[in-house]
Amino acid sequence: MGYLKWIEIEESAPNWNLRQLKSCSENEDMLFCAVVKSNAYGHGVDEISSLLPSADWFAVNSLDEGLELRRYGIKRPILLLGHVLMERLPEAIDADLRLTVYNIETIEKLEKTLNQGVTCRIHIQIETGTGRQGLLPENVPEFIRMASGTPGLEIEGLATHFANIEDTLNHEYAEEQLRIFKEVVETVRESGVSPAVIHTACTAATILFPETHFNMLRTGIGLYGLWPSRETFLSAQSNGIPVPDLMPVLSWKTRIAQIKELPSGSYIGYGCTYKTSRRTRLGVLPVGYADGYDRKCTNSAHVLVRGKRAPLLGRVCMNLIMIDLTDIPEASLEDTVVLLGRDCNELITAEMMAEWIGTINYEVVTRISSFLPRIIVRRG
Ligand SMILES: Cc1ncc(COP(=O)(O)O)c(C=O)c1O
Repeated sequence: MGYLKWIEIEESAPNWNLRQLKSCSENEDMLFCAVVKSNAYGHGVDEISSLLPSADWFAVNSLDEGLELRRYGIKRPILLLGHVLMERLPEAIDADLRLTVYNIETIEKLEKTLNQGVTCRIHIQIETGTGRQGLLPENVPEFIRMASGTPGLEIEGLATHFANIEDTLNHEYAEEQLRIFKEVVETVRESGVSPAVIHTACTAATILFPETHFNMLRTGIGLYGLWPSRETFLSAQSNGIPVPDLMPVLSWKTRIAQIKELPSGSYIGYGCTYKTSRRTRLGVLPVGYADGYDRKCTNSAHVLVRGKRAPLLGRVCMNLIMIDLTDIPEASLEDTVVLLGRDCNELITAEMMAEWIGTINYEVVTRISSFLPRIIVRRG
């Protein structure tokens, strides 16, 4: 069956990237939690989870994402990173999903909800300076007292999340977060509770800071073959840290839906923002901002056709974009077009697209519509 627009997923890349990231740790027993939230950062959660046999755990954001992974047949531990509505806690418990907790109200609700013989495993998220979800260190002793006194509740994990490892070459803030977290770990242990898994390391921390690894890595972007930032790469290089060989997982493709010749002086697209200055061979592509192709690409991006760059002309529409094929006379109707990925010697990376639209590679891939088919391919 042919596709009009689709995402290609390189079969071997996710697990390759996982092994590259895992090799940042010298501990052979290190657990690896693959962060596959938000449709596996836009890559397709079913496809990506099926291509990660070496992941020990999976992490998603919402209850519904966790339930989908269970329906898909994932039997490994799944950690929910985001908030679960109190009224839906029983669904999480039934599906044996691990909860990230930081509100005392959740513990009170679980105390009332848990039936005899049922276990609910929780991971306490500590606020160490990221200024979002998390339990303040001063509230930890009371929280632990309540949670450990609740029958059926198992404090399985302790976690925190770093604010800015990927944003800077100066990691003093992250070091302070780590210091606060270690103090909390000590407090928890002194109270007689020993969580089985302690995890803090996103991709940048995994690569740059062995001290953040504890006994589980919790990484996302690197799995998809993308670097968290240029600063992360430069920090690794300048500190002599072995640089993992990450392989981008995703290509985004479509086909040419129409080709026509327009005279010089023709306007292209809504708002008449582009006027041709020569006789122009226009290509129309069936992709737009509804697919996640950002409207800020208007008049500033390019795509690849037959291994050559074709500039976008005019505004990105909801379901269409227009390109200049004048300098690619060999292009013909229904040719494949690469929006993101490689075509012969040309390459469009998520980082390039992020620069065109003023964002980060995370957002570029995550916003690709989940309606597009994800096709697993073997490039060899
Ligand atoms: C709580 C949490 N842990 C881990 C990650 C993974 O981070 P990264 O994709 O930078 O590896 C994220 C990403 O947003 C997160 O929110």
